[in-house]
Amino acid sequence: MKRNISLLGLQWGDEGKGKVVDNLAKDLDAAVRYQGGHNAGHTLIVNGKKIVFHLLPSAICHENIKCFIGRGVVVSLDALFSEIKEAEEVLGEIEGRLRISSACSLIQPYHIQLDQLREQSNNLTKIGTTGRGIGTSYEDRVGRRSIRIADLYNEEKLRDKLYQALEFYNSIFKNSFGASQIDLHELLDDNLKQAEDLKPYVGNVIEEIRELQDQDKKILFEGAQGALLDISLGTYPYVTSSNLIGGVSAGVGISPSDIDYTIGITKAYTTRVGEGPFPTELFDEMGTYLAEKGGEVGATTGRPRRCGWLDGFLLNNMVKVSGVNGLCLTKIDVLDGLKKIKICTDYSSAQTKEAIIETMDIEDADPFYLELDGWSEPTAGKTDYDDLNANAKAFVEKIEEISGVPVIMISTGPKREDTIIREKI
Ligand code: IMP
Repeated sequence: MKRNISLLGLQWGDEGKGKVVDNLAKDLDAAVRYQGGHNAGHTLIVNGKKIVFHLLPSAICHENIKCFIGRGVVVSLDALFSEIKEAEEVLGEIEGRLRISSACSLIQPYHIQLDQLREQSNNLTKIGTTGRGIGTSYEDRVGRRSIRIADLYNEEKLRDKLYQALEFYNSIFKNSFGASQIDLHELLDDNLKQAEDLKPYVGNVIEEIRELQDQDKKILFEGAQGALLDISLGTYPYVTSSNLIGGVSAGVGISPSDIDYTIGITKAYTTRVGEGPFPTELFDEMGTYLAEKGGEVGATTGRPRRCGWLDGFLLNNMVKVSGVNGLCLTKIDVLDGLKKIKICTDYSSAQTKEAIIETMDIEDADPFYLELDGWSEPTAGKTDYDDLNANAKAFVEKIEEISGVPVIMISTGPKREDTIIREKI
């Protein structure tokens, strides 16, 4: 029996993780976020109401699942409280089953201000961030000047750290951007007030996870964003600022060898929000068709997502570096009715394949496509693999061949029950 399950998107985010988690939820005891922050966006329909989770593990909407935010996450307390409030309106009280590591770094207002100023600047590379202070908060963590949750409960230390931070940030705001200054006293007061409200949620996540592991409980480690946005193995510099791949261990405080099974999620095509290279991007009516039929709008920022064919070259690489054991294929129904469907299997580029895999510099990669026949009989709403027509099955099996791992789950529509389970883990 697989007890520690890691789940991550294998593209540039928005692969439909929320729905996959929802399907696994009935067998889970706990769910853990281990990286990123409120840049993520998981849309779920609970009791007929739409909720978008950014920071909370999306499994929180299942009342018997205990949820954790591990030390690898950067936490905006404003975002956390507004999300808790929104979730509680639909779910009832969640205080008793949400635990946040006291080692998490905080996102402060100066992180958000700098993230947005940089993105608006004409002189700096535009990454297309969510503007939520994610990267700037991680910069402070690596620079060893983060304010961590535990610091909120030592007023003298907190004042000193905020003073040092504002010396640094206010000078950048004034001298580099001519932007407004942040006041120390106001910021300290806000932090101290929020510290009180946060207290019931703060805990020792490592110990609690160990206890659950000792009791043989089933734990899901939920990756946010997608593997191609990984700071180390993604399409740098157009990436987010955390390690999705291999990040569970450092982002929670468990051993890498604890993970029993890794689920990778891929859409049947590809989408991307923000800047950065996207070799299979479609600029023609097919791109518009996928965007419209797939409802491809960013859950966090409302930006339209760029759309293109499935990139098997990148998928194969992300499966390998992430140690994926089984794939979930989402949104296959969006391809229903197309006459021809393409999958990129290779690139032609001035660089060698090995060099592309090493640097993930895909700016000049020209995709080589395999063209498959589409299917007219819809996959939408199907729940049994045997009910799929031969061409849809051939598409699924081609993805297995390209990725080298089995497709264990197929999502055939937005509803929870629109799912084909091929292998239960
Ligand atoms: P940041 O994470 O806000 O710093 O943004 C860096 C890049 O990651 C940008 O291209 C964002 O659009 C992208 N990004 C961050 N979070 C998500 C997500 O949850 N889904 C898709 N893209 C994301």
